[in-house]
Amino acid sequence: MACAWSGFYLQTQLKRWMQHIPRRFSCRDFSGPAQMAQKSALHYAAARVCLPHTRIVVQDCEPDMFYPIPFVTTITGARHYAAVIADMAQEDAALWAGISGQAFVLEATSLQMGTCWVAANYRRRDVDIPLTGQEKLLAVIALGIPGDPEGASGRTRKPLKQLCIDDPAHWPLWAYQTAEAVRAAPSAMNRQPWRFSCSGNTMRLGFPRNNLDAGIAVLHAECALRDVPHTWRTSAQRSHWLVQHQGET
Ligand SMILES: Cc1cc2nc3c(=O)[nH]c(=O)nc-3n(C[C@H](O)[C@H](O)[C@H](O)COP(=O)(O)O)c2cc1C
Repeated sequence: MACAWSGFYLQTQLKRWMQHIPRRFSCRDFSGPAQMAQKSALHYAAARVCLPHTRIVVQDCEPDMFYPIPFVTTITGARHYAAVIADMAQEDAALWAGISGQAFVLEATSLQMGTCWVAANYRRRDVDIPLTGQEKLLAVIALGIPGDPEGASGRTRKPLKQLCIDDPAHWPLWAYQTAEAVRAAPSAMNRQPWRFSCSGNTMRLGFPRNNLDAGIAVLHAECALRDVPHTWRTSAQRSHWLVQHQGET
């Protein structure tokens, strides 16, 4: 069965987002609100990037929308946020919301906007968006002009080898590039819950099956795989994903 995201995004979109993966970082210091043109583009992107059963709504907020929590740098100065909403009646709703939300994040990055996924320390009562049926607000994405546009240089990641079950030096280039794109993805508490392996024309991506982190990882993988003929499927126990290269390797 085809995945919901297979062919959903255009190759040109995926290519543009891929170019912005190295520039994206979780921005915690915003210097001001979006300009009018950026704001319109954010609203347009929110409407365009959502997979079925997912909604993204861009709203203005007061700078105190995000409150401090221990061990995490406080988010200051954010003047907008994007609410990421999923219809929980749909299987894999959180996965799809992660894919859609990260497509939005990379689109916002291409508009020179700073972004930060926030699932915990935001004022839920300030989010005034009516939900219908089994819709649930899964997270918000803080938005604004980044205080330091070069903040990506401060990202910390586990070494690739630590995330691999076998030696990536023996993998085909497409698998290596996919793993590196996923490694650059943001994750809750920077846990980086990814595991990779590759054998022949099949790459195995181990990550939580149905949550935002998993969806974010899938979107980054799709950006890297945009020119590669491939199919996605889940393992029998649905514990990990398999990406199969369909052409000559
Ligand atoms: C699903 C998700 C939820 C997150 N929730 C929070 C949060 O509640 N508060 C916060 O300050 N950061 C949150 N973050 C941001 C992560 O801490 C951040 O992405 C991670 O440290 C990696 O940052 P980097 O991409 O800049 O390297 C969240 C990120 C993700 C992907």
